[in-house]
Amino acid sequence: MSDHAAYLDAKRALDDRSLDREVLDRFAAELPPAPTILEVGAGTATMVERLVDWGVIEGGRWVAVDAHEAALAAGEARIGDACGDVGVEFHAADAFEFAAAAADDRFDAVVGCAFFDVVDAAPAVDAFADVAPMAYAPITYDGETRFAPADPDDDAVLDGYHRHMREFRPGGPDGATALAREAAVIAEGASPWVIEPPYESGERTVLSHLLDTVEGAVGETGLDASGWAERRREALDDGQLRYEAANRDLLVHLD
Ligand SMILES: C[S@@+](CC[C@H](N)C(=O)[O-])C[C@H]1O[C@@H](n2cnc3c(N)ncnc32)[C@H](O)[C@@H]1O
Repeated sequence: MSDHAAYLDAKRALDDRSLDREVLDRFAAELPPAPTILEVGAGTATMVERLVDWGVIEGGRWVAVDAHEAALAAGEARIGDACGDVGVEFHAADAFEFAAAAADDRFDAVVGCAFFDVVDAAPAVDAFADVAPMAYAPITYDGETRFAPADPDDDAVLDGYHRHMREFRPGGPDGATALAREAAVIAEGASPWVIEPPYESGERTVLSHLLDTVEGAVGETGLDASGWAERRREALDDGQLRYEAANRDLLVHLD
């Protein structure tokens, strides 16, 4: 399994406990009994399993799209073509190109978990409005990451991390605010990620991946974060590292 796929699987329990249940309940209330859902940036397709396990959806069709072939393939290998009574399809593709090609298809909703902060909000709302009336966007980054115990390089590294989000890739640290600005909000709620010792299963994998991500992103901006990352990995090995990220769950009208 690729590192990305292993990370996505490992963060499943973290997402489970972080999701805002009131926003999820509102999303469920807006859906017909056997909905047709387009999931963009589906990763390893943990969301369809979660919603079936939690009784949110009991039938219908789930179309999972991600540009990362290995992650999607891991999801397909685990789920196959159905999850409970929900038929599941997997498409390795760019979500915008897929939506444009599917313009004759109508979905009851677009779902994008931890996705709407890695794309630009305005074109995303435009593109997905052509195929669905609403989007459920849980775990959308909301501009703040904190590690503890304190390190003298924290501010410089986290500034570089946010600069990378703003200047070196689509989306940005204000992903949740940008989506709320571009689309009419039906419901929203905080969904912070908090990992603290003693770590539960998978949390070391999540933290290790996040440290690699921060170090790599900051490195691309020209700042060497290797010393910071090394000290953070030592704290992780010692079972001392604490991590918190602000996220927001949003349910929005697209049209
Ligand atoms: C942070 S991951 C979240 C994955 C999954 N939704 C989850 O929460 O486990 C974001 C995913 O979006 C995918 N992605 C980003 N931009 C994309 C695009 N334009 N088209 C399709 N997938 C995209 C990435 O490949 C990645 O798997």
